Amino acid sequence: MSQKSNYIPLSRAVELIKAGNVVSFPTETVYGLGADAFNSDAIDNVFTVKGRPSDNPLIVHVASLDDLTKIADSISNDTQKLMNHFWPGPLTLVIPKKKSVLDRITAGLPTVAIRMPNHPLAMELIRQTGPLVAPSANLSGKPSPTRPEHLFDDYGGDIPVLDGGICQVGIESTVINMTTQPYLILRPGSISKETIQEIVKKPVEYADLKDNNLVSASPGIKYSHYSPDAKVMWLSEEFPSDFNNVLILAHDGRLRGKRIVNYNMDFELFARDLYDRFRMADRDGIEKIYVQRFDVEVSPLVTALKNRLDKVILE
Ligand code: TXA
Ligand code: MG
Repeated sequence: MSQKSNYIPLSRAVELIKAGNVVSFPTETVYGLGADAFNSDAIDNVFTVKGRPSDNPLIVHVASLDDLTKIADSISNDTQKLMNHFWPGPLTLVIPKKKSVLDRITAGLPTVAIRMPNHPLAMELIRQTGPLVAPSANLSGKPSPTRPEHLFDDYGGDIPVLDGGICQVGIESTVINMTTQPYLILRPGSISKETIQEIVKKPVEYADLKDNNLVSASPGIKYSHYSPDAKVMWLSEEFPSDFNNVLILAHDGRLRGKRIVNYNMDFELFARDLYDRFRMADRDGIEKIYVQRFDVEVSPLVTALKNRLDKVILE
């Protein structure tokens, strides 16, 4: 495709961000739409470009301890332990914010979400620009981009892109609120509740998404993240009778055949592939996507995949 001229080198990405622009950059989870965390006009641009509701707060991405101290008000022992253990990596910690952190970032909450991404290009970019706000770079309502070409699906070349290839994890980071007791997982990801519990040696729970108090403390969880044009359904005992314009995503190795993608219990591959499959399905005019039900949550990725699928499958 010819319009890929919006791929830019790191030096240009640094310049653009310093001048208050938004740039899409790769992380190990999904591509982010980055802007200078201290420039409120640039942050406004992020909301405008994405079409993101302003009550949905943003994650601040940091690359050093120095960055962290500009954003975090205080860092508890448990938060420190999790940072030591999982950073750089796909764990976002919700902690008390410094007064100076813009309300625009946190939707007026007293907390801020922070993570250090495990991607060399992201880290180098942030080292040169300072802390960056970055939601997943998709247009609101689309699957998160996991490949640079996904940015062209959504913005048609209007957004400069730092090309880091395919995102290795493929689904968004685990988000945990460290300001509640017990600590609450607001969004499951590849880092599991159990491994977090082992590090902090305290109970960790999944947030109850129907709890109204919680929704006001974490407005983002009320938004569904994406919905492909195709209808997504759990595969029931009965097979679809008409295989035209159908895609089946299976995992247990048994189901085979035309229009079936089987991940053979490789949930890492499933997670890395999911959003790309959704986008491909829309491009190919697929009308129905059936997903094989998961029997047991054998991997944190199964928990995370179920969470993402539950948001698009309306039964
Ligand atoms: O993997 C990721 O986390 C990617 C990459 C780019 O880092 N980013 C990402 O950002 O998924 P976003 O904006 O699509 O999702 C951030 C989630 C939202 O559900 C938001 O509501 C929640 O984190 N969040 C952000 N700040 C929060 C806060 N202070 N309290 C509670 N939830 C917060
Ligand atoms: Mg998102």
